[in-house]
Amino acid sequence: MDTAEISKARMVSKSHDVESSWDDEFKKLVQNFPKERSWAGSNLYFYQGFWCPSLVLKAFISFQKHFQAFNSDVIVATFPKCGTTWLKALTFSTLYRNQFPWDENPLLTFGPHQLVRFFEYDLYLNNPFPDLQNVCAYQPRLFSTHAPYATLPTSIKDSGCKIVYICRNPMDMFISLWLFAAKLRDKNRESLSLDEAFDKFYHGISAHGPFFDHVLGYWKASQENPNKILFLNFEDLKEDMDSHLKNLAMFLGVPFTDDEEKQGVVEKIAKICSFENLKELEVNKKGVHTTGIPHTHFFRKGEVGDWSNYLTPFMIECLEKLIQEKLNGSGLTFKLSSKTSNNIASP
Ligand code: A3P
Repeated sequence: MDTAEISKARMVSKSHDVESSWDDEFKKLVQNFPKERSWAGSNLYFYQGFWCPSLVLKAFISFQKHFQAFNSDVIVATFPKCGTTWLKALTFSTLYRNQFPWDENPLLTFGPHQLVRFFEYDLYLNNPFPDLQNVCAYQPRLFSTHAPYATLPTSIKDSGCKIVYICRNPMDMFISLWLFAAKLRDKNRESLSLDEAFDKFYHGISAHGPFFDHVLGYWKASQENPNKILFLNFEDLKEDMDSHLKNLAMFLGVPFTDDEEKQGVVEKIAKICSFENLKELEVNKKGVHTTGIPHTHFFRKGEVGDWSNYLTPFMIECLEKLIQEKLNGSGLTFKLSSKTSNNIASP
């Protein structure tokens, strides 16, 4: 078995073992939650309006109950496969850029998921009371989560902490997740077919889904409170990284100075966080995340519009209608390809 196979086996067995490790009280709590098979073959539980993977259900509830936000905290929030890894790298490099010499950027030696740690997939995974004072090497504290806005701990919503969210068009996100789930699936189980995955996605069934509820939750919150939540799009970052990086820095309270702009700091951050650069770093080729997922799985193509190589005309039509219906009146727009004619806006 190579490293990827060993990690996969560890990941699969972790997801399957986790339910047998639940105590009676927790088993009793979840016994009435609706349950579905996840795309990778473990269970999803419907908790507070969203499908939570069994692997992180307990951790997620601990995080919800116990996490106390500081006003200075920054949280990277995402739906899976929408650009979490990229946004972690960008936020980390922007926020802390004056705290390390540039050629010693920790991104060169640690994966983005090691530097910006998930609450539910990492910090709370095996410990309901992690020591959060010492887990961040830099200040202010920077964390991440796939939790939907509605389910965030009240201290996050009520404190002055900031949230950076990235969303991605659902067609690319869907294909990215389908291919990712296939890599995680137990060797003894057949991968979910594209049709099966599509049916689940269409009905909102995927880890941390429904996708549209997740995106719209953060979208609406960002509209109501733009100083607290910065809502970014994967496709916009691809198109014009510089202006979005400047917005990000401004939002985080660390705007680029004229000198920094002259010295090309914005471009340097964009470059070090680029798909091409991160994918080729040794740490991202070899390392493994706490969940057992090899870092390499987080880097596939990083493109806009790759869905057109996979989706059938029927799937495209269904998704276009679904997007129109779900975004109706929200003001949110998805860019489906790098060509502007292919965009779907809310009516
Ligand atoms: P694809 O599967 O379409 O290539 P997440 O980080 O939320 O798990 O999302 C993973 C997706 O983001 C994958 O998309 C991955 O290739 C892409 N990605 C990872 N790092 C990226 C980067 N630095 N720039 C652009 N896309 C990136």
